[in-house]
Amino acid sequence: MGWISPILALELKLCGGRTMKTYGRFIIIFLILAVLSSLMISGLGYWSSKGRAVEHARVKAEMLHNYLSASMSFFKNHQRSAVMELLGKEDFYPELMLGFMVTRMTWDIFAKKNGGDLVDFSQATNNPLNESNRAIESEAKIISTFLENPSLPKQAGIIERNGEQHYFVATPVRVWNEKCLQCHGDPDDAPRFQTEMYGTEHGYGWVLEDVVSSTIVYVSMKTELHTAWIDAIKTFFISFISLLITLGLLLFFLVDRTPAAIPDEETYY
Ligand code: HEC
Repeated sequence: MGWISPILALELKLCGGRTMKTYGRFIIIFLILAVLSSLMISGLGYWSSKGRAVEHARVKAEMLHNYLSASMSFFKNHQRSAVMELLGKEDFYPELMLGFMVTRMTWDIFAKKNGGDLVDFSQATNNPLNESNRAIESEAKIISTFLENPSLPKQAGIIERNGEQHYFVATPVRVWNEKCLQCHGDPDDAPRFQTEMYGTEHGYGWVLEDVVSSTIVYVSMKTELHTAWIDAIKTFFISFISLLITLGLLLFFLVDRTPAAIPDEETYY
């Protein structure tokens, strides 16, 4: 029963003064502490939920990026060479020959099936053939970081996109082969189909070995961050209300409500 003594001490303290001022001060201090501790508990909860949201988005983004890279390298190393053997020199079937087109079109189908805007993909390029691949400001920064750090294999982290927080994973695309320049070098060397379809204004003049683009996967953290925020608000109120109930019980059980003895005149003045 050792735990009773601190409560008794509190009771004595409360009842010793037994003036409204003492109770009032106790209640105000308790309320301030209740708000502070509820804020701390909900803040800690939000912080750990946010960490979980980032981790979930990271795992999804890495997985999607790995899958896209695997599919691109299968196309590059196996499919394309087989297709090129079957096609004649003059044949031009972009859907069969162009890895970047295959990836973009496959992603479009995936995005439709997946519904919504939770994941996104970009073949961000500063000077693209296809305008839909043009890099936005943040993507241009990613590309220039790859240009400045040629040995950097990957960039990842949190980024703001369309006003929402996303986790992104980005890898560089280098002009690794002279053949790329047939279509991305001088427009006069490019296939006629290509210049008719994309024009000759952009997507040309690329330089061998340069990083020209980045394959970026985005995973939105909107839903999880929203849930974390709502949970934090709920935690705050649950914690605050529990502490209010505790205060009520403390006052109910521990405060001596018998009328106080009237102090004799000497003590009073
Ligand atoms: C036969 C012509 C041709 C060759 C060769 C070629 N590309 Fe392309 N590339 C294109 C076309 C056409 C597009 C636009 C595809 C689309 O609309 O999605 C494209 C798109 C791209 C894109 C997306 C940005 C943009 O310009 O729209 C990148 C990055 C790219 N190619 C890189 C390369 C690299 C690297 C190589 C060499 C390994 C290469 N390409 C070889 C024709 C070619």
